[in-house]
Amino acid sequence: SSTVVTGISELVTCAGPDGATPVTDRSLPAAERLGVVRDAAVVVEDGRVAWVGPAVEAPAADDALDVGGRAVVPGFVDSHSHLVFAGDRSAEFAARMAGTPYDGGGIGVSVAATRAATDDELRGLLAARVADARALGTTTLEVKGGYGLTVEDEVRSLRLAREVTDETTFLGAHVVPPEAREDRAAYLDLVTGPMLAACAPLARWVDVFCEPNSPHAFTGEEARRVLLAGRDAGLGLRVHGNQLGPGPGARLAVGLGAASVDHCTFLDDTDVDDLAAAADTTVATLLPGVEFSTRMPYPDARRLLAAGVSVALASDCNPGTCNTASMPFVVALAVRELRMTAAEALVAATVGGARALRRDDVGRVAVGARADLAVLDAPGHEHLAYRPGMPIARALELD
Ligand code: NIG
Ligand code: FE
Repeated sequence: SSTVVTGISELVTCAGPDGATPVTDRSLPAAERLGVVRDAAVVVEDGRVAWVGPAVEAPAADDALDVGGRAVVPGFVDSHSHLVFAGDRSAEFAARMAGTPYDGGGIGVSVAATRAATDDELRGLLAARVADARALGTTTLEVKGGYGLTVEDEVRSLRLAREVTDETTFLGAHVVPPEAREDRAAYLDLVTGPMLAACAPLARWVDVFCEPNSPHAFTGEEARRVLLAGRDAGLGLRVHGNQLGPGPGARLAVGLGAASVDHCTFLDDTDVDDLAAAADTTVATLLPGVEFSTRMPYPDARRLLAAGVSVALASDCNPGTCNTASMPFVVALAVRELRMTAAEALVAATVGGARALRRDDVGRVAVGARADLAVLDAPGHEHLAYRPGMPIARALELD
């Protein structure tokens, strides 16, 4: 059946002025790529967008839904989250606010709590986090494992993640777990051997925390090994890189044709040039909620955009470095702290996330795309940054 959505004061399609600009077209400034239609309507048929345009021209449909003069944007595509975890690290957060730097060591605390939780406890925690994200306008969500770090616990994490999304990521190489610290090589054998074999059927992606500045995470060589094994097992590649200091993550991601390198806080000029040259392949995903919650310097988004790098924004929601799945908050941070325009931030949080997940059926409101819409309790998308922390966005529920 079909529904015509009306009462849209401002529709942001993120699909260009003609509604069909390829997301790869970076010749257009973000403001134009936005594709704004005032007093718009959208016709949805069987979960897909069937028509987009001015309300006065809208064709008839079986049902009508009036959003009451609000803005409608593509639902957010949150391409980076770690939602399968138990436990609480608020004391670690408080210590950081008092000056203790983040080094990844707290991940072991979440691993212990996650292993100790029952399936139902984990499922309930995950469901609540997904519901929160959706209530804030997220309609596509990547979810990583990485707090189990045994074959059994990573399989369990990914099984649960698959109950809420198709975008699941194997992150057995999150850190070397405490019990394996004496023998990193044996842990890498496990991750690239039996753990990967058991997890690959449950995952679309493999990711690795490549961070020579943390004693808990992985070096460039170790990360390369994990990614190559993942690729052999049929998984797409993603990298956590350049979060805590300069490092090989971005270089590695570009070299292996990864879909995304995430964090990108400490990049040198060569990294930026590499990412710009690889803009059709590898997305630089910025996670400013992490810098907010770790008191680290923010990544230089303007430098990346000026160089022509493909930029996405995601939440990184996790118990350690950023315990929020709010994409409106991320957009507000991007505008305030990364000096992105509201248009650039919205594009990065929708089309950008879609590119980071190599999807073209989400992240824009265009004929044929999934009808994943977010309604803003506001006349225009600028309010996402203008009214930070207010419950402005929600996923539009049709049916
Ligand atoms: O993306 N950097 C590595 N992993 C997460 C943090 C995980 C944690 O501290 O629990 C991140 O920031
Ligand atoms: Fe992360």
